[in-house]
Amino acid sequence: MMNSKDILIKVNELYKIFGDDDKSALNLVKNGMGKDELLEKSNCVLGLNNINLNINRGKIQVVMGLSGSGKSTLIRHLNRLIEPTSGEIFFNDINILNLSQKELIQFRQNNMSMVFQKFALFPHKTVLQNVGYGLAIQNISNDKWSEKAQKWIKRVGLDGYETYYPGQLSGGMQQRVGLARALATDAEILLMDEAFSALDPLIRSEMQNILLDLQNELHKTIIFITHDLDEALKIGDRIAILRDGSMVQDSDPQEIIMNPADEYVSDFIKDINRARVIQAKSIMTPTSIKSLGATVKEDMVLEDILQIMSDSPSKPVTIKNSKGKIIGKIEMVNLIEGMKRPKSLGTNITG
Ligand SMILES: Nc1ncnc2c1ncn2[C@@H]1O[C@H](COP(=O)(O)OP(=O)(O)OP(=O)(O)O)[C@@H](O)[C@H]1O
Ligand SMILES: [Mg+2]
Repeated sequence: MMNSKDILIKVNELYKIFGDDDKSALNLVKNGMGKDELLEKSNCVLGLNNINLNINRGKIQVVMGLSGSGKSTLIRHLNRLIEPTSGEIFFNDINILNLSQKELIQFRQNNMSMVFQKFALFPHKTVLQNVGYGLAIQNISNDKWSEKAQKWIKRVGLDGYETYYPGQLSGGMQQRVGLARALATDAEILLMDEAFSALDPLIRSEMQNILLDLQNELHKTIIFITHDLDEALKIGDRIAILRDGSMVQDSDPQEIIMNPADEYVSDFIKDINRARVIQAKSIMTPTSIKSLGATVKEDMVLEDILQIMSDSPSKPVTIKNSKGKIIGKIEMVNLIEGMKRPKSLGTNITG
């Protein structure tokens, strides 16, 4: 079934309809009925509509979309907290929908950890007990799980707080406990549903950095739901965008900004600071010949290139890839074009 070793999770033609007669509703949806009409005609809610998604091993897959678009419904299918109306979900080449109840419990314990928006810690257990919980229930000896929990507590910067209770910690600290708990089981997959959304901006940014640091070391496969485009751009290797249960785009973050699939996606990206987000590779003219100006990396953002070019604006900069090979050039006019919002996003200038 799997044709690439880079793909860890494969979602095929996944449909979820909430309601009593979901099977007949499924036919209506397959024949093109949308979410609003379905609710009106059959009193069923269209949760997911023909989702196809390949999630790469060791990467961060972001899922975005407005409230009610199906993000949580999708992520909860991955560990079968929700059963689909129809479709397939593969983990490596195991169809997880075929697992028995017993196998499913094993699968969840060994392969997946979840980090929740509201932390979901046990209030009457200490930090150490919370972090070690997933191990303690696996009949691992006290010494062993405490040692492991201790290691992760340290790794998320909570050294010294082992005997505290969640109620004695700030929100950001509680979410560190949540993260340490998820990491302690060594699961390959982390499911994070708005995990940082309840935190205030500075703490949130700090948590994003902790996650990225850990990811550099651990290479987990992370499915990360967020409402926040800046967060998605900062941490996502890919971004999938849901609308009314359908997938409208799933691509490289640069591609989302340069080529939004439709107006819904355009609307998400219209307020971003393009100079800080768009990278050299997205606007360069391909060439293997060195230009007159400085040489910069393909992932340098336009703002930084502008800084470099301002010394000698007439000299195009050379772009090299991560292996040091020359792959393109950028002239001042390309920079200006790149920073300009595409026509489809409209303009703020009047009169
Ligand atoms: N148990 C349920 N019963 C009926 N409808 C449901 C159920 N769970 C979700 N839905 C519906 O499915 C749709 C998708 O919900 P979901 O919770 O996945 O959205 P979301 O994108 O996670 O939204 P939010 O950003 O608000 O968390 C919504 O219309 C919701 O009303
Ligand atoms: Mg949700």
